[in-house]
Amino acid sequence: MPLATIEWVGGLDGHARLIDQTLLPTELKYIDCEDVPTMWNSIKRLAVRGAPAIGIAAALGTVLGIRGSEASDFNEFEEELRHVANYLGSSRPTAVNLFWALDRMHAVARHNANLPIDRIKEVLLEEAKAIIEMDKTVCRQIGRHGAELIADGTTILTHCNAGGLATADYGTALAVMFAAHEQGKRISVYADETRPLLQGARLTAWELMHAGIDVTLICDNMAGLVMKQGKIDCVIVGADRIAANGDTANKIGTYSVAVLAKQHGVSFYVAAPASTFDLSLPSGHFIPIEEREGNEITCGFGKRTAPEGVKTYCPAFDVTPAEYITGIITERGIIERPDADKVRKTLGAQSQPG
Ligand code: MRU
Repeated sequence: MPLATIEWVGGLDGHARLIDQTLLPTELKYIDCEDVPTMWNSIKRLAVRGAPAIGIAAALGTVLGIRGSEASDFNEFEEELRHVANYLGSSRPTAVNLFWALDRMHAVARHNANLPIDRIKEVLLEEAKAIIEMDKTVCRQIGRHGAELIADGTTILTHCNAGGLATADYGTALAVMFAAHEQGKRISVYADETRPLLQGARLTAWELMHAGIDVTLICDNMAGLVMKQGKIDCVIVGADRIAANGDTANKIGTYSVAVLAKQHGVSFYVAAPASTFDLSLPSGHFIPIEEREGNEITCGFGKRTAPEGVKTYCPAFDVTPAEYITGIITERGIIERPDADKVRKTLGAQSQPG
């Protein structure tokens, strides 16, 4: 059974529980979030991270934020809901799943505006739990579709962590690997360590080893060499936001991997749920890219590795243009050689929040 990355414990007076991913792989500890600031902080410092998981965190955070409301009518309640959503939305800007979940919670509240406020609170908790269940189903569908691409003996390269830890429990890019492995296919994975926060080394390597999948850890700057040496059959990564034309934002360094893959004739796949598409953006040019503190580069994990006072630039994500992408694996099937037409046909209006 996979571990629950993030869940709700108890009834409306309960709390959200999430794995503190900053401590992995050496410690498996949980954070019990009883209030919105604790959830905001958990998202901000990447205790919970990965696009679908922070969508779930936003939904559960909404419940934490409104369950104590003493609003006397829906207008007042909605004002409080907006306030909570704006606050949670200020934690991290790139993964659209966070905003998708906030919008979805708001839409559900509006849809039930005629109910007593206490009942709306219950409905919102039910909706947050439904988002978790949906994520579990969707990730398994992504795994099934993606596994069709994987032949026995395939070696895959991945970047960052798009595994169970980045979702409720099964992952997107790693779902493909889990599903292929469960089908009895022998696969091997090269995991980029993923500077500066090492999600590949700390999380992906940990998850794959636990699943019994052969994994080899490499530094990010080794990806070109292993492709040149013919060791890689395909690349599979996750996504934080996919624009209407298929341009894909994912962890910084993904674009370099995509360019290398093209140069070496290696297929490059993105695995992501419909909730990661942002059809309101015509291209990746408009995707907001989070910039993080320079000390994540100069002083990673508490050890100074660069001179005091050096200038830094620390974007957390980059955008891979659609032309580098062989296919996007979604729960609705694989969008081969994505472009605006094909994305629209597969996603349609259904991908919009609410
Ligand atoms: O900064 P992070 O760790 O939240 O970045 C995560 C990624 O880039 C993942 O690849 C992406 O969110 C997909 S998760 C299924």
